[in-house]
Amino acid sequence: MRRMRRDDFSRRLMRENVLTSDDLIYPVFVLEGQNRVETVSSMPGVTRVSLDRLLPVAEEALALGVPALALFPVIDADHKSEGAEEAWNPQGLVPRVVGELKKRFPELGIITDIALDPYTSHGQDGLIDPRDPRGYVMNDETLEALARQALCHAQAGADVVAPSDMMDGRVARIRAELDRNQQIHTRILAYSAKYASSFYGPFRDAVGSAGNLGKGNKYTYQMDPANSDEAIREVALDIAEGADMFMVKPGMPYLDIVRRVKTELQVPTYVYQVSGEYAMLKAAAANGWLDEKACAMEALLAFKRAGADGILTYFALDAARWLRSA
Ligand code: PBG
Repeated sequence: MRRMRRDDFSRRLMRENVLTSDDLIYPVFVLEGQNRVETVSSMPGVTRVSLDRLLPVAEEALALGVPALALFPVIDADHKSEGAEEAWNPQGLVPRVVGELKKRFPELGIITDIALDPYTSHGQDGLIDPRDPRGYVMNDETLEALARQALCHAQAGADVVAPSDMMDGRVARIRAELDRNQQIHTRILAYSAKYASSFYGPFRDAVGSAGNLGKGNKYTYQMDPANSDEAIREVALDIAEGADMFMVKPGMPYLDIVRRVKTELQVPTYVYQVSGEYAMLKAAAANGWLDEKACAMEALLAFKRAGADGILTYFALDAARWLRSA
C-alpha cells in the first residue's frame, strides 16, 4: 500500500474526495441597527453584525466562490413573544436583510432558517400549549406559523428556506403554502435529521436564545442521539413531502448518519458542523494543542468522504481562503 503513498503525485492521483469552495455554506448572525459588530465569546472569530456590516462579508463570500449564506437573526427582546408573531412580519429583520442582499448580490444564494426560537419569549422552536403543565410544543399550530414565516421569507427573495424546527409535516405544509402563492422556485432545505444535541450551546449564546430557553430542552421534537434508523425515516418523510435538500446536524459525531442518508436514499445531502464543533477546534487551537487550519480542513474533508454534498460551517470563509492559498 505504501508504494502509492510514497510521492505527492501518486497520492494526488488516487485521492477519492476533494473539498472545494463550492461545497461551503457560510452561516451569519444579523442584528438590527447600523455599524454594529458584536463578538460571541464562545465562538472566537464569529460576530453578530448589522446589515451594513454584513454587505462586505457577502461580497467576500461571493468573491471566494462560496455559493450561499445561511442567515440567523438576533431578535431584540421586545420583539419576542409567546406567539412569535415577529417571525412573519414582512418588515422584520430577516425580510429586510434578504431583500437588500438579493438586490446587491443576486448570484449569492440566500438560505433562511425556518423555526420560531429566535422569536419566542420561551426559546422553543414552536408554539407552546397553554393548557399543558409541561409546556408541550404543539405540532399543527406551529405548522401554520412556520408556513407564514417561510412564505414571508420567500416573498422577500430567499432562495432556500430551511425548516430547522423538527415539527412533523412541516415540509408538506410549507411546500403547499409556497405553491399556492406562486413561490414555485423556492427550494426547501429540510433539517431532516436534527438531533437534540448539547453541541448547540454556543449558537444559543450567539442568537441570545439560551437565556429564554433556560433549563428547557427540545427532546420532544429533536431526535435522540441514540438513534440511526429514525434519521432515515425522517429523511424519507421529507423526500415524500417535497424537500429538495436534506440536512444532518450536528456533523462530526454524526458522520455515520451522513453516510447512511447518502447511501440509502441518494439525495442531496448536507451536514452542519455546529457551533460546539467549531468552538472545540477554536479552543484547542487557541491553546496551541491543535493546528487550526489542518484540523478544520481535515474535518471538512471527512464530511465529503462521509457523503456530504455540502457543508454548513463557521469555517466557510477561512476554508475558502485556505483553499485559494494552497
Ligand atoms: C434552532 C437552531 C439550532 C441551531 C441552529 N438553529 C439549535 C437549537 O437551538 O436547537 C444550532 C446551530 C449551531 O449550533 O451551530 N432552530
